[in-house]
Amino acid sequence: MVARPLPIGILVSGRGSNMEAIADAVACGSVPARIQVVISDRPEARALELARRRGLKACCLEPRDYPSRQAYDQALAATLKKEGVELVVLAGFMRLLSQDFLDQFPDGVINIHPALLPAFPGLNAQRKAWEYGVKFSGCTVHFVDAGTDTGPIIAQAVVPVKDDDTPETLAARILVEEHRLYPEVIKWLAEGRVTMQGRRVKVKI
Ligand code: GAR
Repeated sequence: MVARPLPIGILVSGRGSNMEAIADAVACGSVPARIQVVISDRPEARALELARRRGLKACCLEPRDYPSRQAYDQALAATLKKEGVELVVLAGFMRLLSQDFLDQFPDGVINIHPALLPAFPGLNAQRKAWEYGVKFSGCTVHFVDAGTDTGPIIAQAVVPVKDDDTPETLAARILVEEHRLYPEVIKWLAEGRVTMQGRRVKVKI
């Protein structure tokens, strides 16, 4: 299927490994998207530095520079719109987005979470899954709604939890799958292969 490059914006807060995996997949032509801008809410985020090194447009919008959450989300949406972004990709972006923000990108904001949702939403998901004693975990890519990791699920990847795992080794195994799954889902969206019926998301293979 031939698709026009989908203009995406990537929101980050930290390490930036998912942003890099997406940028690699875009650069080698396996995902028909264009990264219009990378935006961080933290000036010290390594992701910003990595994005700039790749020649991507990257900037920081710091919440403390805005009088309210609403004002921050408005500025964020305005920046993304100004850059022509149609799909907002959260890649380790650690802020909840308001309904006002989401309304400006209908079915146009996605997130990756390092657990098999709806299990273990929120922070430190890999550690929570390990402490619970699950035998399988993984990652989930989902549309974003105003809740914490509650939006409709697009795709999941499963990894085993081994007896000698630590939270760190489990997180590393999950991260490998994140880097594979996230670009793949962006490709499906760019190719118009994703449809939704209520909460149920279908992908045309
Ligand atoms: C990733 O593991 C991602 O799944 C997780 O943050 C990490 C960011 O790493 N996101 C969440 O926990 C969201 N609830 P990265 O900056 O190297 O991509």
